[in-house]
Amino acid sequence: MAGAKIDGRMIAQSVKDRVKKAVDELKGQGINPCLATVLVGDNPASATYVRNKHKACDEVGIITRDHTLGAGITQAELNEIIDGLNSDRSVHGILVQLPLPNQLDEFVTTSRISPLKDVDGLTPYNAGLLAMKKAVLVACTPSGVMEIFDYHGIKLEGKRVVLINRSNLVGKPLYHLLLEKDATVLTCHSRTKDLTELCKIADIIITAVGDRSKFTLTPDMIKDGAIVIDVAISRHMDKLVGDADYDKIIQKASFVTPVPGGVGPMTVAMLLKNTITAASMSSQIG
Ligand code: GUN
Repeated sequence: MAGAKIDGRMIAQSVKDRVKKAVDELKGQGINPCLATVLVGDNPASATYVRNKHKACDEVGIITRDHTLGAGITQAELNEIIDGLNSDRSVHGILVQLPLPNQLDEFVTTSRISPLKDVDGLTPYNAGLLAMKKAVLVACTPSGVMEIFDYHGIKLEGKRVVLINRSNLVGKPLYHLLLEKDATVLTCHSRTKDLTELCKIADIIITAVGDRSKFTLTPDMIKDGAIVIDVAISRHMDKLVGDADYDKIIQKASFVTPVPGGVGPMTVAMLLKNTITAASMSSQIG
């Protein structure tokens, strides 16, 4: 029997409905939640992502500030913009869209953001809190994946999870979130040996490679009834695709996220949720 498609758009909408209520409550207390985005250069995919984030903010009543900067900006100039947003009390969340042009250092840039406004959960402080089970602001894609498990009542305790990604934005935060739920987590990457054999023993595979010329997850690599969460998005033969060969994988898996319409909308919804969390923290700090 074919597995079930996970409808990320629908789950994201349920998160947005909750966020909208929280926005209204905050506005009742005189707090106008505001997200500032920083987009550097002219990467068309990044520009689309930022546009989608602004649109989603509009839908739930979060104010946005748009900082679109030339590709040639220096690190010092970017730092100054971030410092300005850090000290601006009307801004609650700051998101610097990644990747950045080569002259800019991602670590230096994201570390500059105030941890209280770090809606990407990328600062060393917030990444450290996550590793110690004390996280408040968690990277949006990983928390979106956890929300999918929660929505579908998928229990993680004792499950074998194979993660195919080790980035700061996806693999590492997911590792901690899954471990907190008592899953057994194996983090794989480009140097992992015998990846197919490892995938075959997984109850859940979370894949985020994003390059079909390097990797495609096919049905022979998964066990019957496995859950496949496809975080990747790339263009392949003129179509937007994930890592998994969706039409074939769903014949063997129990649950699969499609691309598009799976994890992508969850990332945006969790950004809204983090912005609300940051806005409420600002009111507690005074
Ligand atoms: N680029 C791709 N995904 C993300 C994300 O979640 N946050 C930021 N800041 N940049 C990204």
